[in-house]
Amino acid sequence: MTTMESLIGLVNRIQRACTVLGDYGGGDNSFSSLWEALPSVAVVGGQSSGKSSVLESIVGRDFLPRGSGIVTRRPLVLQLHKTDEGSQEYAEFLHLPKRRFTDFGAVRNEIQEETDRITGKTKQISPVPIHLSIYSPNVVNLTLIDLPGLTKVAIEGQPETIVDDIETMVRSYVEKPNCIILAISPANQDIATSDAMKLAREVDPSGDRTFGVLTKLDLMDKGTNALDVLEGRSYRLQQPWVGIVNRSQADINKNVDMIVARRKEREYFATSPDYGHLASKMGSEYLAKLLSQHLESVIRSRIPSITSSINKTIDELESEMDHLGRPIALDAGAQLYTVLEVCRAFERIFKEHLDGGRPGGDR
Ligand code: GDP
Ligand code: NA
Ligand code: MG
Repeated sequence: MTTMESLIGLVNRIQRACTVLGDYGGGDNSFSSLWEALPSVAVVGGQSSGKSSVLESIVGRDFLPRGSGIVTRRPLVLQLHKTDEGSQEYAEFLHLPKRRFTDFGAVRNEIQEETDRITGKTKQISPVPIHLSIYSPNVVNLTLIDLPGLTKVAIEGQPETIVDDIETMVRSYVEKPNCIILAISPANQDIATSDAMKLAREVDPSGDRTFGVLTKLDLMDKGTNALDVLEGRSYRLQQPWVGIVNRSQADINKNVDMIVARRKEREYFATSPDYGHLASKMGSEYLAKLLSQHLESVIRSRIPSITSSINKTIDELESEMDHLGRPIALDAGAQLYTVLEVCRAFERIFKEHLDGGRPGGDR
């Protein structure tokens, strides 16, 4: 594992440990400030723009509830942990710590049930996130947050305030300076009316932490193409635009699997008269690599501030541990200890990284 891979892996583990300690972003303690010092990626866009589909493509697994209307009704904090080649892929929910899911269909059911547990079987939303970790040799280390879709009108059964409630919730994630915005717009709608770009422009006017993602290229009217957007002429961002072809609803109904979908997407770009020249910089696999690389460079540039935040947390944790006394039987104590250990490993690797020394493998 390279130094950067292990750094991102550690960021992931710290984020997870912070969460396990019971901070869901609302509290104001050392864990929330540490969490906020660490970068994450939030997926934003209008309803049915393809957000959940893009996430699934990045993971390379079929596990999210998807479809028309408001399907994603709570934030899903999805942590991808890259594991050793050949090891078995599994998923774990924070609210079900002792259960390993190897069936991703069961993961989808659990997301649905856990959503309903808080919101009831209604069209209501809740800002309380669901935390899911996926351990797999086939992922890049990333934390991705799936959010409810931005919408313009409340539908039957929803309170009038839902439009503003969703925007407030999404905004609370994307306004954080360490949040990388994955702004999803469907290619079969005018980019000038994109909810994602409107919000991204507001919270990130310079466009340096926004990745523009254009879905549904396959659904554009015949004779039109999205080159003006993909080549940055319609809407300038500091990061490159990435075009995506996800599975259609018909594909999903026919159970077209992810491997086949990825292959079809690659073929779509490779053989496209419009996008052939961009083929190597399009598609969900490329997007995953791009995000991981970006995350590395963000972490590298934030090393000093992350380190100081970690040191502060270590100090606070040590005094808390002293206060509780060791050894601690409580789960909380064990978790504090984990954070402390991970923070120390992090600090050590940062130091080696800065010194340019060779890292001693941390895991
Ligand atoms: P979300 O509401 O933004 O999370 O959107 P979903 O990922 O749930 O997708 C909404 C619908 O659009 C589903 O029926 C998807 O199959 C379909 N869809 C998403 N992306 C594409 C795409 O690139 N091409 C096609 N043909 N359909 C897509
Ligand atoms: Na949807
Ligand atoms: Mg969704």
